[in-house]
Amino acid sequence: MSIMTAAFDPFYCEAWNRSQCDGMMKQLGVYCLVVTIKEKPAGFLLSRTIFDESELLLLAVRPEYRKKGVATALLKKLISKAHFEDTKCIHLEVRDKNPALALYYSLGFREVGRRINYYKSLNGDLYNAITLSLIII
Ligand SMILES: CC(C)(COP(=O)(O)OP(=O)(O)OC[C@H]1O[C@@H](n2cnc3c(N)ncnc32)[C@H](O)[C@@H]1OP(=O)(O)O)[C@@H](O)C(=O)NCCC(=O)NCCS
Repeated sequence: MSIMTAAFDPFYCEAWNRSQCDGMMKQLGVYCLVVTIKEKPAGFLLSRTIFDESELLLLAVRPEYRKKGVATALLKKLISKAHFEDTKCIHLEVRDKNPALALYYSLGFREVGRRINYYKSLNGDLYNAITLSLIII
């Protein structure tokens, strides 16, 4: 939760609260990976696998550890896990214009759909959601 609070800009209302995380962590197929640097939590991802498809639910890195490859390392681990478990694809949804898009594209994710005006920020502005997928096998 400390990474969540530090990483997500409250303006976009994208961070999950503790009860949302607790509820998700109890579900089957949920995977949480945390990176620590010098014993301090630096970043995490949360994903869920149902049958042969995975969804990346959250990816976050504390601002002071950004641009050092932490998110790339987390995603590469998720992709290796998917290969190992014969998962067919990894899906995710991200706000249009989020800098994370460049990261996802660099790892092979491609746009497969859009939800118009799906996200609402604190001031009521609406943003499209972009659905990306990475085909594993
Ligand atoms: C998106 C996020 C997870 C990236 O974490 P990170 O550890 O800094 O990412 P990496 O260092 O692995 O970056 C890899 C590549 O992603 C791209 N990238 C990452 N952050 C970027 C930024 N702010 N602006 C532009 N490109 C960026 C770059 O292509 C970068 O490669 P480069 O360093 O060679 O230029 C982090 O900025 C974050 O926590 N953001 C807030 C939460 C969020 O929006 N999560 C994603 C949606 S759920």
